[in-house]
Amino acid sequence: MTSTILRSAAETARHAPSIFNTQPWRWQVRGDVLELRADRTRLLPVTDPEGRMLTVSCGLALHHALVALAAGGHATRVERRPDAADPDLLARITLTGAADPTDVRLRNAIPDRHTDRRPFADTPVPDGFVDRLRGAAEARGVYVAELDADSLVRFQVTAARAGELDQNDVAYQAELARWTHRPASSADGVGPESTVVPTPRTVPLRSFFPDGADRLLPGPGHDGGARYLVLWTVGDTPADWLAAGEAMSAALLETTAAGLAVSPMTDVVEVPASRAMLHRVLNHLGEAQVALRIGVPSTTDALPATPRRTDVIG
Ligand SMILES: Cc1cc2nc3c(=O)[nH]c(=O)nc-3n(C[C@H](O)[C@H](O)[C@H](O)COP(=O)(O)O)c2cc1C
Repeated sequence: MTSTILRSAAETARHAPSIFNTQPWRWQVRGDVLELRADRTRLLPVTDPEGRMLTVSCGLALHHALVALAAGGHATRVERRPDAADPDLLARITLTGAADPTDVRLRNAIPDRHTDRRPFADTPVPDGFVDRLRGAAEARGVYVAELDADSLVRFQVTAARAGELDQNDVAYQAELARWTHRPASSADGVGPESTVVPTPRTVPLRSFFPDGADRLLPGPGHDGGARYLVLWTVGDTPADWLAAGEAMSAALLETTAAGLAVSPMTDVVEVPASRAMLHRVLNHLGEAQVALRIGVPSTTDALPATPRRTDVIG
């Protein structure tokens, strides 16, 4: 039954990661069509006034649903942002018949994927892995820039600057606190069990708990083998943000499927002064959408599961 298949894909997409774990999406099964909508009641007005990260997050959910359908042997037609008069309708997915299952590896990675904010091991990422991510992103019109030693220095400065500006921004801190101090019943937000006790870092990560409430132990890593990637697009429209989310999802699931670890870093994109610095790192070729730190995990200690809402499918 088509509606059962579509509903099941939307269920799988609930696992998708999102900015501050806001899960800013709504799924609706309408006959033979699955619709994805942005839920602007979950927009972060201070951190993300334009809705860039909200749209990127919805792109991740869209990719998760498409992976579930492809792995189930379902061919699909996808219309992205099909109605100019209804910009929050981000995608319409229609089943078009049976197909050989693909993306099964990625489908299996969905429940295993977690943001790992611990420092990674010194062991190098296998040769060719970043090229695989590049191929998956470029298929969606998204480019992957890997930071070399020179640009990494500029990225360190950029990340440190983003952290300082955020730290001194009272409105940002109030918004962050709203999403890090959620009642369990809300099934969203970021809790201290998934953020790492302060530890020396090559590149600083976003601080979720400025009061030091973080509970996850850093483990033995020093990020010696970590690689830093920037996903960027030539344009900077909501269509580009959605594509960046789909490409980011492909990158995260490929990374998990390969037994590697990854954490997104987007304060460097959200803070305008840092985004301008990244624009220079990209030689003015395009707009940074997200940065990713990937590497070999430094510990086999499991990461905590993060909450997800159940009431996102109508
Ligand atoms: C668009 C986007 C931006 C994110 N930015 C950051 C970030 O700057 N720093 C960070 O530590 N995690 C970041 N994350 C990770 C989310 O906080 C995480 O996905 C969410 O809390 C759910 O946890 P999970 O990924 O372990 O399922 C980002 C995720 C997304 C999708």
